[in-house]
Amino acid sequence: MGGSTARACMTAPELLGLISAALLLQLAVGLGVVWVRRDRAVSTMAASPPAAAPQDTSAAWAGWRQFEVVRREPEDTAGTQCSFYLRPVDGQPLPPFRPGQFLTFGLDVGTGWQGPGTPPGRVTRCYSLSDEPGADHYRITVKRVAAPADHPEWPPGLASHHLHDRVRVGDIVHVKAPSGHFFLDPDPTLPVVLVAGGIGITPMFSMLRWCATHQPGRPVHLFYGVRNGSEHAFKRQLDQLAASHPALHLHVVYSRPAATDAPGVDYQHAGHVDIDLLRRTLPHGAHHFYLCGPAAMMQTLVPALAAWGVPPEAIHFEAFGPATVRPPAAQAATEMATHEVRFRRSGRTVTWDGRDSYLLDFAERHGIDVDSGCRSGGCGACETRLLDGSVHYEHAPDHDPAPGHCLLCVARPTSAITLEA
Ligand SMILES: Cc1cc2nc3c(=O)[nH]c(=O)nc-3n(C[C@H](O)[C@H](O)[C@H](O)COP(=O)(O)OP(=O)(O)OC[C@H]3O[C@@H](n4cnc5c(N)ncnc54)[C@H](O)[C@@H]3O)c2cc1C
Ligand code: FES
Repeated sequence: MGGSTARACMTAPELLGLISAALLLQLAVGLGVVWVRRDRAVSTMAASPPAAAPQDTSAAWAGWRQFEVVRREPEDTAGTQCSFYLRPVDGQPLPPFRPGQFLTFGLDVGTGWQGPGTPPGRVTRCYSLSDEPGADHYRITVKRVAAPADHPEWPPGLASHHLHDRVRVGDIVHVKAPSGHFFLDPDPTLPVVLVAGGIGITPMFSMLRWCATHQPGRPVHLFYGVRNGSEHAFKRQLDQLAASHPALHLHVVYSRPAATDAPGVDYQHAGHVDIDLLRRTLPHGAHHFYLCGPAAMMQTLVPALAAWGVPPEAIHFEAFGPATVRPPAAQAATEMATHEVRFRRSGRTVTWDGRDSYLLDFAERHGIDVDSGCRSGGCGACETRLLDGSVHYEHAPDHDPAPGHCLLCVARPTSAITLEA
């Protein structure tokens, strides 16, 4: 596993930050999306400009690398989740990754609505690696994202539909090296609880496979919530893993079981993955929790675990942020200060007044041409040179910007700044 022994840790102020972040998430319920992605949960950091955080990228590659799609595999009977197996075109070895990390894709989707600030034809999206490291290929599993139920007239998810409907075996995709701070702590003495909602199963499946191969005696509890059997991804593999690994405890939870779904066979619990289920089911003792799922699950479970007494360094979570949808503005009073923001290339100077969530939203609102992808600090698409001044990150981003650069999608100015955009 790349020899990584990095561990996330959090101080008391960071715990307060975690809870504050969770409360902010609750504010976002109306929007129905989660936009953050955190593991070392919440630290406050100023950047002027930000320095690169340590990360083991020794064996990784820089920039885009071409991969061929060598196999496609539907993962559920509803056909909404599809795995893509990828081999590098250059035939060179693949660097290892940490189970839980993701790849960043540059997808040439052609014309159509691509979101503000996106260059024509190309979108950037992140997808978790859904298999264990060490194979001669990478695998991602992508869920088709429909238009929101209350806005069926909006275009459906651009990248997910492109992958499902147009990307075939033999096609080439452009991929950045594995990255991300959300990965399994390899300490075998830590019992693990993996909590997945829907497509949030992808990083969990990678962790699970890695544990089964390398630490088969390590206790692992997987709580996996889906609507019913038609959306139950990796079903056969999960059942096989559970049958052959007594230390793996599988808790599949259907919120709306179909008449054909057999309790005790297809699923263990009806309802939702919530704190009551965890308390009822888990044995006594300390566990490390890894969570990935939709907004509603994260908004309730993360603070509930903290309230239950789980120490902050034992709670790791990520949410698959919206690439298209903008987060609601959520500034603290101290961040409402006004600052001049100069966009050097565009020749514009505009005033930051705290109305926008982040500099990316601000730039787009003012018609400044900037690239973007994940909109959650993961892919690096919005990385922009910070020529002067300082910015602030509420959380340490997953992508480490180069010295002298900042990530517009998660940065706010703390002084007058000049950006190369
Ligand atoms: C670290 C990370 C890991 C991830 N891992 C996975 C994974 O393993 N598997 C996976 O499936 N996904 C994963 N994701 C999510 C993935 O990156 C994409 O966000 C997801 O596929 C949706 O992208 P899209 O282009 O299909 O949808 P988008 O085009 O971004 O659309 C998203 C939603 O916005 C709606 N929309 C369209 N137009 C508008 C508009 N004008 N205003 C408002 N809303 C609009 C769409 O209808 C859709 O419902 C991950 C994300 C992150 C950040
Ligand atoms: S858009 Fe992905 S890091 Fe900013």
